[in-house]
Amino acid sequence: MKIRILLTGATGFIGKRLLYKLDEAGYQVRCLVRPHETLTLPLPLKHEPEIAYGDLLKPDSLISALDGIDTAYYLVHSMGGRSIRQTYAFEAKDRMAAENFVHAADKAGLERIIYMGGLGDISDSLSPHLASRQEVGRILRSGSVKTTVLRAAVIVGAGGAAFEIIRYLVERLPVMLCPRWVYTKSQPIAIKNVLEYLAGCLTTPETTGIPLDIGGPQIVSYVDLMRMYARVRGLRRYIVGVPLVSPRLSAYWVNLITPVPAGIVFPLAEGLRNEAICRENHIREMIPIRLSSMEEAICTALAEEEKGPGKLLSQQSCFFPEI
Ligand SMILES: NC(=O)c1ccc[n+]([C@@H]2O[C@H](COP(=O)([O-])OP(=O)(O)OC[C@H]3O[C@@H](n4cnc5c(N)ncnc54)[C@H](OP(=O)(O)O)[C@@H]3O)[C@@H](O)[C@H]2O)c1
Repeated sequence: MKIRILLTGATGFIGKRLLYKLDEAGYQVRCLVRPHETLTLPLPLKHEPEIAYGDLLKPDSLISALDGIDTAYYLVHSMGGRSIRQTYAFEAKDRMAAENFVHAADKAGLERIIYMGGLGDISDSLSPHLASRQEVGRILRSGSVKTTVLRAAVIVGAGGAAFEIIRYLVERLPVMLCPRWVYTKSQPIAIKNVLEYLAGCLTTPETTGIPLDIGGPQIVSYVDLMRMYARVRGLRRYIVGVPLVSPRLSAYWVNLITPVPAGIVFPLAEGLRNEAICRENHIREMIPIRLSSMEEAICTALAEEEKGPGKLLSQQSCFFPEI
């Protein structure tokens, strides 16, 4: 019997790409789409997905969305919006969304949830965004449905918010005076590999109900990542660290330089002080895949961006005004 899947976050950067991967593999997918949104697909799918209109903040809308579902992907966060004042509204919303979902999933008798969360050690006084990602994982795992939590740092792919911030900064600023956070270490991963892990969980029963760190083959600082981007693009860039600039202060100029909404820039920028490195690598044995280097991941992202807005699915999910 085929696994029936609910894909939450289907309109997002990861969700939309995962939809294509699951479709290719022949799964029956139902997409959760908020009532005011439409799921715009840049390329045809093999099988038309079912659409369930619903909102995680409206528990009643989840009953029919979860009816007859075996496994749900939870690929949702509540950051966003242009107003700096509203920046921290996401924490309460994310808590409520996860609580609503776990209750509805318990009631519907789901077999599995697969959640895409964030890396970061709780002992490291995490930023509100990273702490919230961990809290959502704990809430989802508190129900009776077995929940896999994949934890990642920056995901490198066209349209990913963190990658787009790096891209705009390097494209637009020949000289950058950066705060200390540019030297924080992290283990970014290519979107291709994230999709392989997310889909691979379905056919790898050992991944059921456990947290798993996922990361690329290199541990790098953000300054390394920006220099790699510049190298791949053939740009000459001077990036200098200035210790006195706080992550919050730097968020103001990132907000000025890039078109990424303040509601995403501020929480992400505050998280840059926290190391995001895999503490274990069990997934490497469970789902053996070839990990892309960051240079490769950047090249792929740039190739996708070059095709022009709307030509590839990656470009539907984010903000693509002219550089
Ligand atoms: N991108 C990265 O670099 C990265 C790195 C590590 C972990 N992650 C994690 O991966 C997951 C997905 O991230 P992403 O980058 O794909 O995010 P994204 O592109 O911003 O997509 C977020 C999705 O959540 C949906 N959503 C928000 N609130 C909702 C609600 N109340 N009800 C239903 N749907 C709602 C959005 O729908 P609308 O279209 O209606 O707004 C959108 O489809 C998140 O848990 C994130 O923390 C991402």
